[in-house]
Amino acid sequence: MLETLTRIQTIRDRVRAWRQNGLRVGFVPTMGNLHRGHLSLVEQARAAADRVVVSVFVNPLQFGPNEDFDRYPRTIEHDTELLAGAKADVLFAPTTFEMYPNGYERSARVDVPDLAGILEGHVRPGHFEGVATVVTKLFQIVQPDVAVFGEKDYQQLVIVRRLVQDLCMPIAVLAGATVRDHDGLAFSSRNRYLSARERNVAPRLRDALHVARKALLEGERNYDALQLAGLRDLQKAGFAPDYFSIRQAADLLPPREDTREVVVLAAGRLGTTRLLDNVRVQIR
Ligand code: PAF
Repeated sequence: MLETLTRIQTIRDRVRAWRQNGLRVGFVPTMGNLHRGHLSLVEQARAAADRVVVSVFVNPLQFGPNEDFDRYPRTIEHDTELLAGAKADVLFAPTTFEMYPNGYERSARVDVPDLAGILEGHVRPGHFEGVATVVTKLFQIVQPDVAVFGEKDYQQLVIVRRLVQDLCMPIAVLAGATVRDHDGLAFSSRNRYLSARERNVAPRLRDALHVARKALLEGERNYDALQLAGLRDLQKAGFAPDYFSIRQAADLLPPREDTREVVVLAAGRLGTTRLLDNVRVQIR
């Protein structure tokens, strides 16, 4: 039976009791408005652990002043039903005051300096400091053995892996494959902002990534040309692209001669909605 907890002390007590019984704890942090992508992360956590905690917290610290914090969809009742169906054990849904008792603006912060300012972080300054801070706090609260993050937010996944390593946290970070709609569009809470016309255009983001992937698999190594072509494809489709970039999959540095795995990452606005996606490619 799913239990909803809102207080840090209560969830700590619950997790401590599980641990005393030798149970492994899995964790899926979310901002709610759950969709099939999140549910597949819950399933993965269930396969890797005996008990699963899912957090729903719209973290103000990771939104910029002109971003969608106020209009971000909050659907806690529906989320609760989905999590009960997915057989999660605990929904942790704290208030902002519970998470940031001294005010989020004044909170101590966690930074991963070399990764937080590039790509998504270049377009959204401060975003990854907000993410790294809240993920560290949630890890301190839940103290999971395993945490699952979606590959759709690839840079976030790389940053979380780095912070776990750098801050010596005894947590295994698992990557959950991106779940897509019938036409290839990655599930995202922000898809609901799209108009019907924009929704038809949105899969072109994934198409552009796949054009680059195909070229890479066929041996193309002129990364600059591929990046430019990707930006143009997105513009033609009606996006205002922020970046279309080919990076090493492990650390998001530019690829070198001996790089074996790259990730092509792209993001841009379609109308007022920002979408992002990526594809990984093994190269010979
Ligand atoms: O990916 C998200 O939903 C958020 O960035 C996360 C990891 C829950 C932190 O607020």
